[in-house]
Amino acid sequence: MFEFRNGSLHAESVPLEAVAREFGTPCFVYSRAALAAALAQFQSACSGHDTLICYAMKANSNLAILGLFAGMGAGFDIVSGGELARVIAAGGDPRKVIFSGVGKSAAEMRYALESGIMCFNVESAAELARLAAVAADMRRRAPVSFRVNPDVDARTHPYISTGLKESKFGVEFEAAPELYRAASRLPQIEVVGIDCHIGSSLTEYAPLVAALDKMLALVDRLAAEGIRLRHLDLGGGLGIRYRDETPPDVSAYLREVFGRVGARGLKLLFEPGRSLVGNAGLLLTRIEYLKPGAARNFVVVDAAMNDLIRPALYEAWHAIVAVRNSEQPGTVYDVVGPVCESADFLGKGRELAVSEGDLLAVMSAGAYAMCMSSNYNSRPRAAEVMVDGDRAYAVRERERPEALFALEHLLR
Ligand code: LLP
Repeated sequence: MFEFRNGSLHAESVPLEAVAREFGTPCFVYSRAALAAALAQFQSACSGHDTLICYAMKANSNLAILGLFAGMGAGFDIVSGGELARVIAAGGDPRKVIFSGVGKSAAEMRYALESGIMCFNVESAAELARLAAVAADMRRRAPVSFRVNPDVDARTHPYISTGLKESKFGVEFEAAPELYRAASRLPQIEVVGIDCHIGSSLTEYAPLVAALDKMLALVDRLAAEGIRLRHLDLGGGLGIRYRDETPPDVSAYLREVFGRVGARGLKLLFEPGRSLVGNAGLLLTRIEYLKPGAARNFVVVDAAMNDLIRPALYEAWHAIVAVRNSEQPGTVYDVVGPVCESADFLGKGRELAVSEGDLLAVMSAGAYAMCMSSNYNSRPRAAEVMVDGDRAYAVRERERPEALFALEHLLR
């Protein structure tokens, strides 16, 4: 949905030059068609099976995206009360919400129970005890699934790998049966499922299938004890192409899953994040200065690490393209922002034929970009724009400088 027409990069039918003129830079640009297509592809691979796709909204929680996915029937994987508030504000159905995360507060549990969410993915014995207490206080029963750590190596970046024993996430595989027994004795708890999530940005699905096998062994063992689960949640983690990776094929992965789960009568939940939104967005930025040097040449742009922290945090690689195609030979540049940190780069060693004032598009910025942005250096957050065919809509306005300190007080 992002392609060159007459030498100029477009989002669907809208030239990015026009987006920059109307909404300014830096700004995130999303393609509605690309978002819808990614979810539709996942849905069609699920058709004929009892499934629910719970979009891991931490990847991009803009209301317009949530509204689009909710309208297409998706549920949501949330990790905070704030995310639940967003789902509700976007018109999502709380009964399709699952609540993940190791540190749910009592207030968040209460809010989620009041809202009638589908399930809590419980990650420790202590959390189970707190949830039971909150539910008892509210005279409710809390639907529970344990996030089990299958001790499988996702073979991805260590910062986004979560399925190993050393990880803070999930309950230990060996400890799971005892937790299930304990939970099923608690009157305030309704045991409904089991889940795992081993990591993000996976370029192969073999580790996901290895985790699935361990989960199924556990499901069968629990069933033999009379603890019957309604659903199995396999988390997210499917990678996308940033550079030259071959992302796992969703249909092939799901065929493998359905084949292995067989006739156990389990509803299957998935929590895809990046694979639904990552390549449906880009970060549009304007070149402030060219700064040639003896050791390196720099392009200084108006976007920075506070807008897109992935390169600084994970040395992640994002394609960077000039919005206006040029026949001129390029120069090799580091693309950097105005923030006062040496880690403030969006890309290094990129060949670009550009001048001051030109626009650049940092690709694959639909996931873990705006949602991880900050106000570091008192930089207002970028605008977000959704393109739909030949129209572009502001789906989040550029933050105004007054908003930076609107919640602060001078001491008198
Ligand atoms: N479910 C759970 C419980 C998760 O923790 C995550 C992501 C997902 C689902 C979605 O995973 P996905 O399908 O997006 O791989 N900031 C990092 C990624 C952190 C992922 C955190 N958890 C990045 O920019 O690469």
